[in-house]
Amino acid sequence: MGLKKVVILGSTGSIGISTLKVIERFSNKFKVVGLTAYNNFKLLERQIRKFSPTHVAVSTKGVEYLKKHLGARQTRILNVEEDLESLVALKCVDIVVIAMRGSAALGPFLSAIRAGKTVAPANKEALVIAGDILISEAKRHKATIIPVDSEQSAIFQCLEGRNRGELKKIHLTASGGALLDVPKSRFDHLSVNQILNHPRWKMGKKITVDSAMLMNKGFEIIETKVLFQLSIDQIQVVVHPEAIIHSMAEFKDGSIIAQLSITDMRLPIQYALTYPERLESGLKPTNFFELGQFNFKKPDTNKFPALALSIHVGRRGGTLPSVLNAADEVAVDAFLNKKIKFSDIYRIVEKIVLRHRTIKNPTLKKILETDQWTRQETERLIFR
Ligand SMILES: NC(=O)c1ccc[n+]([C@@H]2O[C@H](COP(=O)([O-])OP(=O)(O)OC[C@H]3O[C@@H](n4cnc5c(N)ncnc54)[C@H](OP(=O)(O)O)[C@@H]3O)[C@@H](O)[C@H]2O)c1
Repeated sequence: MGLKKVVILGSTGSIGISTLKVIERFSNKFKVVGLTAYNNFKLLERQIRKFSPTHVAVSTKGVEYLKKHLGARQTRILNVEEDLESLVALKCVDIVVIAMRGSAALGPFLSAIRAGKTVAPANKEALVIAGDILISEAKRHKATIIPVDSEQSAIFQCLEGRNRGELKKIHLTASGGALLDVPKSRFDHLSVNQILNHPRWKMGKKITVDSAMLMNKGFEIIETKVLFQLSIDQIQVVVHPEAIIHSMAEFKDGSIIAQLSITDMRLPIQYALTYPERLESGLKPTNFFELGQFNFKKPDTNKFPALALSIHVGRRGGTLPSVLNAADEVAVDAFLNKKIKFSDIYRIVEKIVLRHRTIKNPTLKKILETDQWTRQETERLIFR
């Protein structure tokens, strides 16, 4: 494997930081050429000093800060709102890790694909809202997509070298989030901190809230559908609280292939970076004797209606997934800013989804217009 040149979009977030840890371990195999952040420009500054990328991008305030503080470094400082699409398409780039959150990742994701890069998306929002376009453009431009999201990485690994015609279904595992054992009657009395206390994974705030309401799993159903070109009926969610099995593929003959490991995002990140090679990760091995047992449950869609709503949205497709995503982004943000209660997130998202008239096979322009319409409608509903 030659030296691979990597861009990390969202290097200051949970996935971005883990990606840099993996790269640090294999510094003879990877060179960081681009890092991007949004508001955390102080952490970005430390990352620049450590990894010496040739390009970075950050918000306008961050651009001013870095220009002032970095001195005579050979790092070009770009604007995150304007320059991500050209950054990922630079000739020298081999791999683009999409570790930024939200639908803002769609533009650079598409640009990386159109430039024929290897794209390692942790971001699921772009795949949810415009997955079909991303996949067909990837085929057209011979770009490779190697998923980082742990469940998608598991499915990718379970399906490697298999005849896809023999696949029956995917068992998409879910740890159950912070509210698995909390009665629904208590949901409205839970603080932001209680919701953010995920039992298995340490992640960014938005995905942790989505996990608590199983909206994240709903997004993953749509992500799985588009990434592996399956029907929604071929994807079954299984609650597995130990979160050691990251997903399973069941074949026609009844055999099931699973991918297991400890809950550490460095593993799927490393696999996406070193693919198809497997290298020593240095992480704690899975100890079955310590684990003792695995549990499995059917998801409770009465308690977590976001899961049923996502399945409905995934089935209808078209512009509806972009409505689900944008309404959720706005509502989760309002919850994190203590403007609404936890259960309001679902109520608001459902209302907006039901208001929308789905357009089939939308163009990218239609998807982006729908995203804008949804954000305005959701904000109006929250702040009226
Ligand atoms: N965390 C996990 O374990 C995990 C697992 C599977 C999938 N994912 C997915 O991976 C993505 C990132 O998750 P995360 O937990 O790492 O999120 P996070 O900790 O919130 O980090 C998000 C990153 O995106 C940047 N960012 C935020 N808004 C942006 C915008 N509008 N434009 C450009 N950059 C922006 C942030 O910059 P600043 O911090 O500088 O503001 C930060 O670097 C999400 O799509 C999530 O669903 C995460």
